[in-house]
Amino acid sequence: MELAGLSVREDAVGNIFGRWDGLEPELAAVATGSHIDAIPYSGKYDGVVGVLGAIEAIRVLKRSGFKPRRPLEVISFTSEEPTRFGIGCLGSRLLAGSEDLANSLKTSTDIQNISFLDAAGSAGYSKNEDDLSSVFLKKGTYSAFVELHIEQGPILEDEGISIGIVTAIAAPASLTVEFEGNGGHAGAALMPNRNDAGLAASELALAVERHVLDSGSIDTVGTVGILELHPGAINSIPSKSHLEIDTRDIDEERRNKVVEKIHQSAIKITKTRGVKLSDFRVINQDPPAISDEAVIKAVETATKELNLTSKLMISRAYHDSLFMARLSPMGMIFIPCYKGYSHKPEEFATIEDMSNGVKVLALTLAKLSSQ
Ligand code: GLV
Ligand code: MN
Ligand code: MN
Ligand code: MN
Repeated sequence: MELAGLSVREDAVGNIFGRWDGLEPELAAVATGSHIDAIPYSGKYDGVVGVLGAIEAIRVLKRSGFKPRRPLEVISFTSEEPTRFGIGCLGSRLLAGSEDLANSLKTSTDIQNISFLDAAGSAGYSKNEDDLSSVFLKKGTYSAFVELHIEQGPILEDEGISIGIVTAIAAPASLTVEFEGNGGHAGAALMPNRNDAGLAASELALAVERHVLDSGSIDTVGTVGILELHPGAINSIPSKSHLEIDTRDIDEERRNKVVEKIHQSAIKITKTRGVKLSDFRVINQDPPAISDEAVIKAVETATKELNLTSKLMISRAYHDSLFMARLSPMGMIFIPCYKGYSHKPEEFATIEDMSNGVKVLALTLAKLSSQ
C-alpha cells in the first residue's frame, strides 16, 4: 500500500487501511478490499484477489492521471475466515460495531489456548481489551464499499461470462456442539451399556443433512466441517465429541428454522443415547445483506464501458462485504474461477479474469469517488 502511494493506518486488531486523499478529503471515502487469511488446505485466490486487486486498481487510477473527488481507501481485513478464533469476518464484524464480538474476544482462545488479546499483542497489535471498541467505525465513514472476489462457484465459467455483479449475500450461521458420555474400553464395555458420544455426534451430523434437505429449497445448505472425538484412540469409546456446524440460506427465516431443528435434534439425541449435551452454542447467526442499487449500477456501467459480459448473481459464500453493508452502501464484483473450486488447493483464476476484475473495480471506484 505504501509503494502505491497510500497513507497506511492499522487498527487495534490489524485491519489495514491505505488511503488516497481525494480533492475533497473531508468527504466520506469510497472503500474497497478483502482479506488475505485462508483456511487450512485452501487456495490462494479467495480474498487475496480483492486485496492485491484493490491496490492494483489504485495504481491503475494513479497511472491514468485520475484525481478522485472523494478519498479512496483500500482495506485488508483481519481474519475473514473463522479458522483461528472460530468466528468469520472478525475484522469487518468489529468495524461494523459488533459489541457482542468485542465482548467475546476478551475471553476467546485458539486451539492452543492462546488468547485473542495475546495473539493480537504478539502480532504487534493491541493487547488491551478496552481497545477493541476503538475499531468500530461510524455509519457514514464510507460513501460506498466494493469488494472484488473470485466467484467460488461455477456459474460464470460455465456460462462464459466475465463479471458477476452481486445483488445479495446469503445469511450464514455457525454452531458449536459438544456431547459427553462415559467412554470406556472398546472391548470390555458391552453395547447395551454404552453411551457413545461419537455416535451421538454422527447422528447429529446426519440430522443436519436431513433438516437442510427438508427445507424444500436448494438454497439451504449445511455442513459439519469439524468433528472431533476424545480421547481419539481406536480402542476407547468416545467420551466426548465436538462438532462445528455451518448452515446458510438466502432466506434468513428458513435458515433460522434449520438452526432450531438442529438444536431440537441435539436434545433428542441426549435422550435416545443417554449422553449429555455439554455445549450448544450459536456462534453467529447473521442476516443476509443486500447490495446497494447505485453501487450495482456503477459496476454495471463500468462493465459495459469495458465491453465485458456480466450477470447479476447471489453470493452464497460470505464476505467482509456482509458486514461493510451495515456501515455503507455495498456491492461486489465476482470473477470466474476454475470449475467453481474454492476452499481447496485446486482454486484458480486466470490472469485475464483477474485483470478484467481489476479494470472493472478501477472504473467503478473512479465513478463512485467522483459522485
Ligand atoms: C467464507 O470464507 C465463507 O465461508 O463463505
Ligand atoms: Mn473463504
Ligand atoms: Mn473470501
Ligand atoms: Mn469468504
